[in-house]
Amino acid sequence: MINGLPAAVLPKQRKCSDPIVAKMKPRIGVLTSGGDCPGLNAVLRGVVLAAEKLGWEVVGFRDGFEGLLPPGNHVILDRERVKALIIVGGDGSMVTAQQLQEAGINCIGVPKSIDNDLEATATTFGFDSAVDVVMDALDRLHTTAISHKRVMVVEVMGRHAGWIALHGGIAGGADIILIPEIPFDYEKIASVIKARDAAGNLGSLVVAAEGARPRDGQQVKRDTKDGEFRLGGIGEIVAHEIAKRTGKETRCCVLGHLQRGGAPTTLDRILATRFGVKAVQLANEEHFGSMVSYQNYQVRQVPIAEAVNRLRLVPPNGEVVQTARDVEISFGD
Ligand code: F6P
Repeated sequence: MINGLPAAVLPKQRKCSDPIVAKMKPRIGVLTSGGDCPGLNAVLRGVVLAAEKLGWEVVGFRDGFEGLLPPGNHVILDRERVKALIIVGGDGSMVTAQQLQEAGINCIGVPKSIDNDLEATATTFGFDSAVDVVMDALDRLHTTAISHKRVMVVEVMGRHAGWIALHGGIAGGADIILIPEIPFDYEKIASVIKARDAAGNLGSLVVAAEGARPRDGQQVKRDTKDGEFRLGGIGEIVAHEIAKRTGKETRCCVLGHLQRGGAPTTLDRILATRFGVKAVQLANEEHFGSMVSYQNYQVRQVPIAEAVNRLRLVPPNGEVVQTARDVEISFGD
């Protein structure tokens, strides 16, 4: 067994002697794994259309990796004409892709995550759409914050990496951004809000990544299942602490899964399509065990092994954080 897959689904490495099978069109498999993400359909479009151009058939596996298992489409992988499996997923899925590759199933990875936390690619598709949702929410919440002289705390996704909070917060004009990489201090947050009040800015916007935590505290975990924990709840706590320390009416708004659904942005549609097409090209060139990667405005390839087991976190002293500080955004530190 490899990662729950019975040996029966492993491809046979022998040459095809059956004349009927030999005449069949080459096939590739594609599956998506992990959370939904804007742009998935664009990847599939890229894969299917690029494969059709090569005269290949594409087998789509439902339900992620489970689709490989009986009674799913796993039989397909026994056929000699199956060339490769394209796996669209985040860090965990790339770990599985690497394991399958090592077990003899030819895999190509396509990086997908709204969190944008995969190593070895400058960006993942889905991220821009999630940031767009945060920006739109902040644009709307400015009205309530200013007209009611309130503090609005917006909790956004981002387990380990604060990219969504950082980019969404800068784009939407947040006053304070709280991210996992920069532990915060409630007193500092309160002093920033009081200073804004004193300067006549009576409404303030705070963006908190779900994985943000105070300097002397832990991440807020809702529950743990199968070793995986669910985050959420830091926004309410931050709102409560701000109200207690500043005396200001403070409300929390949790964006949650709104950030993962809906129509992808133009950037994500194009990026995802390019990723899908590149994945087929890599399969055609037999660059198995590689992952599609976006670097310097080009779609390239890297070994899957380079992208796994390490998350791409926000550098606390990096240029984007410094840019935010330069436009008077506080990180509560
Ligand atoms: O990894 C993407 C992500 O959106 C995280 O930011 C978040 O913690 C997680 O998925 C939520 O997953 P689920 O919908 O399974 O609770």
